[in-house]
Amino acid sequence: MKARLQDAIAYIRTQSSVTPVAGIVLGSGLGNFTANMEIEVEIPYGDIPNFPVSTVEGHKGRMILGKLDGKPIVVMAGRFHFYEGYSVEEVVFPIRVLKMMGIQTLFISNAAGGVHPDFEVGDLMIINDHISFFTPNPLVGPNDPEMGPRFPDMSEPYNKELIAKAKAIGAELNIRLHEGVYTGVTGPTFETRAEYRLIQLVGGHAVGMSTVQEVITAVHMGLKVFAISVITDLGIREEDNVITHEEVLAAAKAAEPKLTALFRGLIARG
Ligand code: HPA
Repeated sequence: MKARLQDAIAYIRTQSSVTPVAGIVLGSGLGNFTANMEIEVEIPYGDIPNFPVSTVEGHKGRMILGKLDGKPIVVMAGRFHFYEGYSVEEVVFPIRVLKMMGIQTLFISNAAGGVHPDFEVGDLMIINDHISFFTPNPLVGPNDPEMGPRFPDMSEPYNKELIAKAKAIGAELNIRLHEGVYTGVTGPTFETRAEYRLIQLVGGHAVGMSTVQEVITAVHMGLKVFAISVITDLGIREEDNVITHEEVLAAAKAAEPKLTALFRGLIARG
C-alpha cells in the first residue's frame, strides 16, 4: 500500500509545489468552498495514480491545491463512499495521501439526516463523537506501525480545541450550531423509520453514509480532525417522510455559506 500512496503523491508533486497544512473533504452538495481560494491547480481524481474515481451526482471529483487566506491547503471536492462499491481501503486512500502530503489537520463535511428533536433542515452539527453502525473498520488487516498503532485510541477522535474554536466563530457569525454524535451507516438506502428511531435510541444525533472510516484512518495517522454535518433531512417526523437525494443536495447547497464561513474562520485561526 505504501508504494501505491507514494506513486499518488509523486504525481501530485509534479502538478503542485504546495505543501498543505490542512486538508478539507467536501461532502454532498458542498463543492463550492473553493470559490474563496487562490487556486494553484485542480487535479481530476482520474489523473492521480491509484485514486478511485467518484461517480455520485454532486461530487466533482477533483483535488484542489492552493491557498485560503494565505494558508496552503488541499481540498478534496468529492469523496468515495462505500455504497458506491469501493472497498474500504479505497474509501480511505485519499485521507492517507493527504496526511503524507503534510497536512496536520483534516476538516470534513457531510450531509446527514437529523434524528435529534431540536434539529431543523439546514442546521449544522459539529461532530463530537461517532458510532459506526456496522460500517467496516478501515484498519482491519495487517498494520504498518510507520502509519500508526495497531490499536488506536478513539477517546477523542474530534479535536476539542477545534470544536471550541468553531463554537466561538459560530457565535461571532451568528451561525446556529449543534454538537452531537454522528452515526455512520453504509447506505445507500436512507433509513427506515424503525432504524432512525434505533439510531436515536443508541445515542446518535445525526446519520450519514460517510466520514466514520475517514476519521478512523485520520486518527490512526495522528491527524487532528474537525468534522461537521449539514442536516439535510429529518429522520423522525410524524408526517409522511420520504427522503430524496435531490432534497439532500438542495439542503446542503443552501447551508453551504455557513459551513464555508466556519471552515474559513477555523483555518485562518488554526
Ligand atoms: N441518512 C443517511 N445518510 C444521509 C441522510 C440520512 O437521512 N441524509 C443525508 N445523508
